[in-house]
Amino acid sequence: EIREPENESYNSYAPGTPEREELREEINRLKNQEIQIPAIIGGKEVKTDRQEDVVMPHNHSHKLGTVHLCGQKEVDMAIEAALEARKQWADMPWEERASIYLKAADLVTGPYRYTMNASTMLGQSKTPHQSEIEAVGEFADFLRFNAYYLQEIYEKQPYSPEGMWNRMEYRPLEGFVFAVTPFNFTAIAGNLPLAPALCGNVSLWKPATSSIYSSYFIMKVLKEAGMPDGVINFLPGSGADVGDPVIKSEHLSGLHFTGSTNTFQYLWKSIAENIEKYNTYPRIVGETGGKDFIFAHESADVDAVVIAAIRAAYEYQGQKCSAASRMYIPDSIWDEFRDKFLDEVKDVNYGDVEDFTNFMGAVIDQKAFDNITSYIDYVKESDDGEILYGGNYDDSEGYFVEPTLVLAHDPKFKTMEEEIFGPVLTVYVYEDEKFEETLELCDNTSPYALTGAIFAQERYALKKMADYLRQAAGNFYINDKPTAAIVNQQPFGGARKSGTNDKAGSAANLMRWISVRSIKETT
Ligand code: ALA
Repeated sequence: EIREPENESYNSYAPGTPEREELREEINRLKNQEIQIPAIIGGKEVKTDRQEDVVMPHNHSHKLGTVHLCGQKEVDMAIEAALEARKQWADMPWEERASIYLKAADLVTGPYRYTMNASTMLGQSKTPHQSEIEAVGEFADFLRFNAYYLQEIYEKQPYSPEGMWNRMEYRPLEGFVFAVTPFNFTAIAGNLPLAPALCGNVSLWKPATSSIYSSYFIMKVLKEAGMPDGVINFLPGSGADVGDPVIKSEHLSGLHFTGSTNTFQYLWKSIAENIEKYNTYPRIVGETGGKDFIFAHESADVDAVVIAAIRAAYEYQGQKCSAASRMYIPDSIWDEFRDKFLDEVKDVNYGDVEDFTNFMGAVIDQKAFDNITSYIDYVKESDDGEILYGGNYDDSEGYFVEPTLVLAHDPKFKTMEEEIFGPVLTVYVYEDEKFEETLELCDNTSPYALTGAIFAQERYALKKMADYLRQAAGNFYINDKPTAAIVNQQPFGGARKSGTNDKAGSAANLMRWISVRSIKETT
C-alpha cells in the first residue's frame, strides 16, 4: 500500500548553508566536463552522425556537451524496442512499476538533487530557486503522487449485485505513447513520458533539444531506479526528423504533449491524416500556449498585485506557460500601482544564474530572444503602446532581455493579445465604472485559457470576476499570482486553445493512458 505522499520540501540555498556549497560544487563539476548526450533506445546509448552543441543560454560560448540527433532509423529502432519491452512491462504488477517511481523520486530528492538542480540551472538558465521548485520538488511530486493516484484508480471497482461479479480491468493502451516535451520545465519533460508509462504503457520521448541537458540526467535517474530497458526511449531530434516518422507508425496509441499551439495543431492534423493506419484511436493530451492575465478590482490590495505581477511576469524570464503577460488595472489605483511597481522592479536584477543573487537568467535561445525582442521593438515604434520600464536587451554573451512593462493604450494592442513567452508584461488601465465591460474584454481578448488571477478585497467583486471569467482560465487564482501550481494542490492545465485540460498532477491525467476492460461474470 502506498501512503498519501507529502509535497517535497525545498532547499533555500541561503548563504552559508551546506546545501549552497554542495550545489556550487555540482555546478562546477558539470561546467568543467563536456558530455556526450546520445539517444537511448532499448536501454542502449545510440550515437548518431548528426550532432549539435549544447550551450548555456546565459553564456552561449560555454559548451556543456554534444547531443546526438535522431531520424527515421532511430525511430524504427525505438518502436521495436518499446514494443518488445511492453510485453513484460504491461503485465508487471502495478506495485512493482510504482516502486520504481518511488525509488526514482528518492534519487531525485537524495543523491541526484544537486545534479537535477544544477543541470536545469546551466542548461535552461534557471535560478537555483526556480530549479529547486520544479526539477527537484515538482518532479519528485509527480513521481510520488502519480504512483499514489494509480493505486486509487485501481482500487475503484463497480457494484456487483448478487449472482454477479463485475470488474474494471485497467489496461494500458496498446502500442506506444509519444511524449513531446517543452524546454521550460524539467519536471514536465520527465512527467510526459513517465505518466503513461506508470500505467503500463511504453513511451517514445522527444525532448526539446534546448533543454536536453537536464532531460538526459532524468534518463540516468530512471536507469538507476530500475526502469527496464525500452520502456522509455529517448530520441533527441527535430520535429521533422523524429516527430513525423513517429506519427506515421501504426502502433501510435497516444500523444502526450506540452509546447507551442502551432506544433500541437500540426501533430493533431498529422494524426488525423494517418487515422486509418492506426490500430486504435490515439489519445491526444496537450498543454499549449497561454496569454495569462492578472485582473485587479478597485478594492484590490495594491502591494499584493505588485508582488504577484512581478513574480508571475518575470520569474524564469516569463517563460512559464503560466506566466502573467497581460494585466487590467482600474484607474483609481493606477498611480499607486505604477509607482510601487516601478519602485520594486528596479530590484529585479538579471544575469548569470550562477550568481545566486540574480532574480532572472537568460531566455532559452536565439530564436526566443529574436521573437521576444521583435515585440519590444514593435512597442517602441507604435503609438498604441509605450514602454514604462525596461525594453533593453543584449545577446552578445547570453540571451538577456530586461524585465519590461508595457502600457497599452488600446486593450487589444498586439502585446495584450499575443503570446510572447518572455519577460514582457503589458498593462491596460480601465475606467472603474467599466469593470464589467473590461471583464468581458479580458475574456475575449485571447483565444487561450490557461491561467489567470483576480485581485479584490470586496467579495461581490470577486464573485463577479469569477463568474465572468469562468471559462477564461483552467487554473484560476484569487488574490495570488497565477504561476507555480503544486502537484496534488492545484492540478494543472488549460482549456480553449491552451490544451485539452487533462490536469497534470491528478488522477484525471493518468486515466487518459488507461483503457478499461469491463468484465461481468455470472456466478
Ligand atoms: N505548472 C507550472 C506553473 O503553474 C506551469 O507555473
